[in-house]
Amino acid sequence: MPRAEFDRLAPRYERGSRVMSLGRIVSWRRKAVAALSPRRGARYLDVGAGTGELTRAILGAEPRANVVALDASRRMLRAGRLDGLAHVTTRVADATTTGLGSRAFDGIVSGFMLRHLRGFDLFFREMARLLRPGAPLVLLEAHYPEGRFRRLLFQIYFFGFAWLLGALVTGTFRAHVGLYRSVKAFPGLPALEAAAGRHGFVRTGIERGAWTGFFLLVLAAPHPAARPWAPRRGGRVLKEGLLPAPRSSPWGSERRA
Ligand SMILES: C[S@@+](CC[C@H](N)C(=O)[O-])C[C@H]1O[C@@H](n2cnc3c(N)ncnc32)[C@H](O)[C@@H]1O
Repeated sequence: MPRAEFDRLAPRYERGSRVMSLGRIVSWRRKAVAALSPRRGARYLDVGAGTGELTRAILGAEPRANVVALDASRRMLRAGRLDGLAHVTTRVADATTTGLGSRAFDGIVSGFMLRHLRGFDLFFREMARLLRPGAPLVLLEAHYPEGRFRRLLFQIYFFGFAWLLGALVTGTFRAHVGLYRSVKAFPGLPALEAAAGRHGFVRTGIERGAWTGFFLLVLAAPHPAARPWAPRRGGRVLKEGLLPAPRSSPWGSERRA
């Protein structure tokens, strides 16, 4: 979806998201932050931060964490009133060319941005550069749920109803056509995981909503001790592929299985 559409949507984005998801978006953001396990004094990136709901959730979980909220749309960041919040820095940049320092982050989270990228490779290359070895990359997205019946219900609900409701609640028809198209065009988890694997990420967890279409994919940044890439489909959060904690990483034993 073009940046201009997010600029237009900015002041009403959060209202639309909550209405379309029947409020479920809030608990999924909480799950994403739990997967990140923010620590005091550590540095996190919220990429495609929008109005900063995930940034706030990180600080809600750990008020002494430091967060960079990055988004291509200045208006989305402004609508979130993040400037002036303690421990938060905002940055207007593209997710694939952030201009941020290498290995500068102890974890990265991204909510509902991947659908708006043209491809995943440049994104994963940049995330691999920004993260400390073995640090988590937590991706929250929405796509079809598993199973034919659930998929059908989701299609009826989202494409027949929810996107229109979002358009009515926010008064931004074109932005919601963009949202509609982005969900339709999203290539799905296998393509996402394959791209992550090409850049050395290892899956450490996955959770899929039974009905909502939300999913959470948790990856660990490239690390010399990483196991070979072995993508699998579906399932609840897995212990599969957890890395031995690197000595230099501030994650220490907390992240061990
Ligand atoms: C659907 S909103 C999600 C906002 C927020 N993360 C949330 O949890 O609700 C997607 C955001 O991604 C941003 N975005 C889309 N493509 C981007 C890119 N290539 N680089 C940075 N931000 C991008 C948009 O401006 C928008 O604010």
